[in-house]
Amino acid sequence: MFPFPVADPIPLPAPVWLFKVLNIVTLGLHFVALQMLLGGLLGVIGLNFLARLQSNTLSDMRHQAAAALAKRLPIVMTYVINFGVPPLLFTQVLYGQALYTSSVLIGFWWMAVIALLTVCYWLLYKVADRTAAHQSAWTLALVAYGIAALIGRIYSANMTLMLRPEDWTQMYANSALGVYIPTNDPTTNPRWLFMLISGFAVSGLWMIWISATTSSFSQDLRAFFNRLGGQIAVVAIAAQLGLAMWVFAVQPDVVKTGLTTDTLYQIYGYAWLALTAGLLGIAAYSAFQKAQANLVVGWGAAAGVLLTMLAMVAYRDGIRDITLFSKGFDVWNRQIVTNWSVVGLFLALFVVGLGVVGWLISVAVRAKDNAPQVEDMTRETVSKTAIEGVNQ
Ligand code: HEM
Repeated sequence: MFPFPVADPIPLPAPVWLFKVLNIVTLGLHFVALQMLLGGLLGVIGLNFLARLQSNTLSDMRHQAAAALAKRLPIVMTYVINFGVPPLLFTQVLYGQALYTSSVLIGFWWMAVIALLTVCYWLLYKVADRTAAHQSAWTLALVAYGIAALIGRIYSANMTLMLRPEDWTQMYANSALGVYIPTNDPTTNPRWLFMLISGFAVSGLWMIWISATTSSFSQDLRAFFNRLGGQIAVVAIAAQLGLAMWVFAVQPDVVKTGLTTDTLYQIYGYAWLALTAGLLGIAAYSAFQKAQANLVVGWGAAAGVLLTMLAMVAYRDGIRDITLFSKGFDVWNRQIVTNWSVVGLFLALFVVGLGVVGWLISVAVRAKDNAPQVEDMTRETVSKTAIEGVNQ
């Protein structure tokens, strides 16, 4: 028996490959932002906690670094959300029969993401305020991290449950309320932990980029970010490689065979490994530096993170397609009636949209350049400076 619900009778309005490319690109961007958020929060927790243990030049530097990261996290969150919506739509178009079913089966948790996300977002603002005033914020940041990690666990549960139609009927028979999160899939936790540890790696590389590009920071702070970012990334990338092997090892044999025999997936896999090795090299170089990162290293780290993420997402797509194919679902087997005028308009708007996002990021980066040392000020000094400015 075909275990999936019947497909929507309306044909797809564009080729499958186009939806796949768009899905991979937008999900890659979602993952970059997501890992900056997860890793950035860990950085804030560690730096703010350590800064409060002593009172010396090093703890002052840690306060400044925590404040600088925390200030950026609410902005990062907007990208997590906005780059999450497009892949959700594309995934639903391509795999709706599987994803809608699994989403309904964990419906309570799936809907809870909205509330969790709202609380997490609110906490990010609180953490940014408190770190700017060099106050204790690590407990709030820890709660925010816990909530973000829980959201990630819900996503991993859904993205793996959608691959297991053999479990659906029994799950629904056990409870139709959607309150149970399945725990019997050996692939879920390795996938989730891989995402969490990747966040730590990306946060280190993000610090190197901040060191190279944020000219409003003092030389000392930039050097601090460079060295710390390199050290964090070296450790986290090594752990990430171990977790990647674990993710592969727990896949069913049919998936492992598919991944190792298909040329395209081999290319994605080796590309990921080569790019990760390159990022490890950048991180190791930065870990021993006493000065700020140069622009080549900073932008090399940024480009490397983006490309590595795209390779990983393409490989992950293979895990899904091979698993579903082994259970009778062929994502390529769809009725397609392409509406090229709509597709053309969509692609034009998509490119314009990405351009606007790039422009917004560049405005944000330049705005920081024009506000020298604001990072170092407490809330009161900022207000005082503003009042003095108005009085002049
Ligand atoms: C703090 C917020 C969030 C966290 C921590 C998070 C975490 C994750 C994680 C860990 C995965 C990978 C799951 C796996 O494959 O094992 C994932 C995938 C995904 N996330 Fe997010 N996410 C967040 C917010 C969002 C939001 C707000 C959206 C959309 C509105 C979204 C859309 C997606 C989609 C569509 C996928 C997978 C798509 C696919 O497989 O094709 N995420 N997320």
